Amino acid sequence: MKRVLSAIQPTGDIHLGNYFGAVQNWVKLQEQYQCTFGVVDYHSMTMPYDPKKLKENTWSMVFQLLACGVKKENLFIQSMVPEHTELAWILGCVCSYGELSRMTQFKDKSEQLSEKDKDAVVSSGLFYYPVLQAADILIYHADYVPVGKDQDQHLELSRNIAQRFNHQFKKEYFIHPEALYTETPKILSLADPSKKMSKSLGEKHYINLFGDEAMIRKQVKSAVTDTGDLSSSEMSPGVKNLFEILKACERMEAYQQLMSDYKSGSLKYAPLKEAVADALLALTTPFRQRYLEIVANKKEVKAEIKDSSAQIRSRAAQTVKEVRELCGL
Ligand code: AMP
Ligand code: TRP
Repeated sequence: MKRVLSAIQPTGDIHLGNYFGAVQNWVKLQEQYQCTFGVVDYHSMTMPYDPKKLKENTWSMVFQLLACGVKKENLFIQSMVPEHTELAWILGCVCSYGELSRMTQFKDKSEQLSEKDKDAVVSSGLFYYPVLQAADILIYHADYVPVGKDQDQHLELSRNIAQRFNHQFKKEYFIHPEALYTETPKILSLADPSKKMSKSLGEKHYINLFGDEAMIRKQVKSAVTDTGDLSSSEMSPGVKNLFEILKACERMEAYQQLMSDYKSGSLKYAPLKEAVADALLALTTPFRQRYLEIVANKKEVKAEIKDSSAQIRSRAAQTVKEVRELCGL
């Protein structure tokens, strides 16, 4: 069976973009591949953060992923597998400074930091982030890595690192991981459909997958539809985004009905929004219920995730043992 590895940072709430762009795909892949999914808390230390919040967010991300259908035996918390950091160190020694300085995520994030605060320190951890990501992937000998297009460059780097390691230590040890892209296009912000849905834009820009009914209805109701340019024959990005969400929720009947209204010029936005809100609630209500059940059994669930992390750790430890041997440690 081919192996799949992916990971997500414990950013707090899972939003619709994360769900359709990543998590939903993870759940499906579990049927076909040997899957390993990480909540990568070491990665979250690369930007300024609050330790108490990090711990809270790590567990809440675990609970949310489980509620969405990720199997517990496939899930681990990165810091429970400290071998990732050891391998990252070793891989860093076959990765050049020049390669890392070309990473656009590093440039974007360091700019973001200095925009927010002139005196902010750009940590070398942020610079080294892609090497840790390569370690996440290579340590499990993953064939496939489901990620968004924005992670292309990091994946390419992981392949280069694998190749350089193999060459330097004269063994075809690491395989070359490939990306698995999702078919769902980017979900856009409802409040500003010129941008992709993201937590960093602020609260009104994303829909929390675990938000309550009133919240979700209110957010969809206030979605921006027209951008003012009524003469344009093209569908506005906000309306297109609502249709995309309907499609992603597999509401094809409503989608086709509303689309034919649009084409005949009789589409009203209120019923479109209502259909979207209904579709989202049908999707998310079971998740919310499962989340509450999980939180009610927090203690057991935490113990189970510690167990699964320990199981997964034994695979990582085997890799590090072999790598140490190859490297002369
Ligand atoms: P982030 O929280 O931005 O680090 O994203 C975590 C995962 O969700 C990545 O795999 C992204 O590609 C995916 N993702 C984030 N935002 C969106 C979006 N608006 N539409 C589709 N996928 C997204
Ligand atoms: N950098 C990824 C992101 O921002 C998260 C990540 C960390 C990851 N390690 C990984 C993704 C390993 C895939 C594989 O979304």
